[in-house]
Amino acid sequence: MNKKQYLMILGLALVFEGAQCQEHEVFVAHGSLAVLRCTDETSALSHPTGVYWSRVVGDVKKTVWRREKSGLEFRPVRDPPRANCPVPNFGKADYSLHIAETTSEDGGKYICEVEGKTRMVKVINLRVVRASFSPAVVVEGFRTEAKCHVSPEKRFEQINWKRNGKLTRRTTLSKVSQKDGGNWTCQVAYNGGVVEATTSLQVRGIVTPQDDSLVVYAAVGSSVSLPCIFTDGLIPYTVMWNRNSTTSYSPLPLPASFNESAGPSASATIRRVEFGDEGMYTCSGMMTGLNGEKTKVQRRMELVVARVLSSSSSSGNRPMTLTCHLSNSSQITSYEWLRVNYGPNDTQTVTSVQKTESFRIQEVNEKDAGEWVCRYYRNQGVLGNVTYELHVTGAVKGENSSSGNKTAMVMGFGFLFLVIFLVLFQMYRNYRRKKTILLYPAMETIVHQATTEREQRERSRPKMAEACVGDPKPVCV
Ligand SMILES: *[C@@H]1O[C@H](CO)[C@@H](O)[C@H](O)[C@H]1NC(C)=O
Ligand SMILES: *[C@@H]1O[C@H](CO)[C@@H](O)[C@H](O)[C@H]1NC(C)=O
Ligand SMILES: *[C@@H]1O[C@H](CO)[C@@H](O)[C@H](O)[C@H]1NC(C)=O
Ligand SMILES: *[C@@H]1O[C@H](CO)[C@@H](O)[C@H](O)[C@H]1NC(C)=O
Ligand SMILES: *[C@@H]1O[C@H](CO)[C@@H](O)[C@H](O)[C@H]1NC(C)=O
Ligand SMILES: *[C@@H]1O[C@H](CO)[C@@H](O)[C@H](O)[C@H]1NC(C)=O
Repeated sequence: MNKKQYLMILGLALVFEGAQCQEHEVFVAHGSLAVLRCTDETSALSHPTGVYWSRVVGDVKKTVWRREKSGLEFRPVRDPPRANCPVPNFGKADYSLHIAETTSEDGGKYICEVEGKTRMVKVINLRVVRASFSPAVVVEGFRTEAKCHVSPEKRFEQINWKRNGKLTRRTTLSKVSQKDGGNWTCQVAYNGGVVEATTSLQVRGIVTPQDDSLVVYAAVGSSVSLPCIFTDGLIPYTVMWNRNSTTSYSPLPLPASFNESAGPSASATIRRVEFGDEGMYTCSGMMTGLNGEKTKVQRRMELVVARVLSSSSSSGNRPMTLTCHLSNSSQITSYEWLRVNYGPNDTQTVTSVQKTESFRIQEVNEKDAGEWVCRYYRNQGVLGNVTYELHVTGAVKGENSSSGNKTAMVMGFGFLFLVIFLVLFQMYRNYRRKKTILLYPAMETIVHQATTEREQRERSRPKMAEACVGDPKPVCV
């Protein structure tokens, strides 16, 4: 049996030589469709009697696909059948074999034999290119390596790796980061062209934010979310939030309205941002690696707090300066001041006033009351905004509304002075009276006695006094 097959292959080899058949190489990416060309360019076989596609496995020739003169098709019992000749009735003298979803195991030597008036034999070497990572799933901070396999193996002049469309020489990743996750493409150049195989690397850890460069902007009084989302909603059993000072990196307490668990992630919320909440926030969690080892993954982000500083309280008819203040303005490229007016039905109209960090109102008056918004930008993108509510005090309103109010105010002040004058005058009179009495101490006793006597007399005649109240003629003494 073996000997027979050996002889057959030997025979084939002789046939190839006789037909001056060359071996063709076909490169295809793992998972894609392979087309093994077998066409009769000379049209010598206008009416073929049989087409045989076989594959050389070891020393054995195995049928892949076959069609006989009767029209019967044969293919190996394999599900699903991936190899066939799709061209019906071999029109255009095309006997090509198509293999769908090629795998590395499909690589090897294929033989196409077409029989008719003459005999045509073609040998095709199929090489399958496959890209992979080992390991393909890795916890950030760990090591992985990109590999480009060609099956069957062959030496290549050039194998390149591409990452997001750009060539890269980094194929051994000693410390994987989230940014390494995604598609990597291996590019193999051969005589006939270039074939590309793509693989994806899955990095477990904190997906959002991807690295430590995130800066979150929040206005005083607003609520803000600090993102910390782990792979596939997989939250490690311990998640911790810490805060450090931006300048000294010394630990700081978390803000009063800091809420650690918000939704299906480890993201935190500061319900009401206050001035002083700025700083570096760190979210960290313990994750389990592929071999069961525990590892800490963490992300650091900066919270920048925005507020509006005003030069003075808005009293009087004085000028006032509003300044947009951010706890770290190093990323800010421009500012814009906006005036927000509310029409009927709460319709909002926003008008741009000035494109500077500070904004000066020459004379604060009633029409300036309301919302002023400072927007801050990084290049063309809006990073955030902060609102200042300008309250104009009553005095300012009065001064600017009408002269009638002025008169009323003057009259009011006049009345106040009159009252004060009367009170003082009365006090002065009392003082004078006391002084006179003190000059004559004996007289004080007399006056006192007289008063007491009079009171006693009045008390002994209560009825008279009562009658006296209703008396039309006040004669009582
Ligand atoms: C990665 O490749 C897959 C399939 O090849 C594709 O669906 C996906 O969009 C690619 N991702 C990126 C970021 O290009
Ligand atoms: C401000 O932010 C930049 C980066 O956005 C950072 O490099 C710098 O250290 C920060 N400065 C302060 C004082 O927080
Ligand atoms: C926060 O500060 C502590 C103490 O200075 C330091 O050990 C730690 O590394 C800092 N954390 C970060 C994320 O900078
Ligand atoms: C934090 O927020 C969750 C809902 O997101 C709420 O159930 C919980 O009570 C909050 N914790 C505090 C301390 O406010
Ligand atoms: C206010 O809204 C109501 C209902 O949407 C509408 O009928 C009405 O015309 C609006 N008024 C103004 C002044 O826009
Ligand atoms: C300010 O920011 C808030 C939240 O992003 C947004 O809803 C609002 O429209 C902004 N206001 C202005 C005037 O841009």
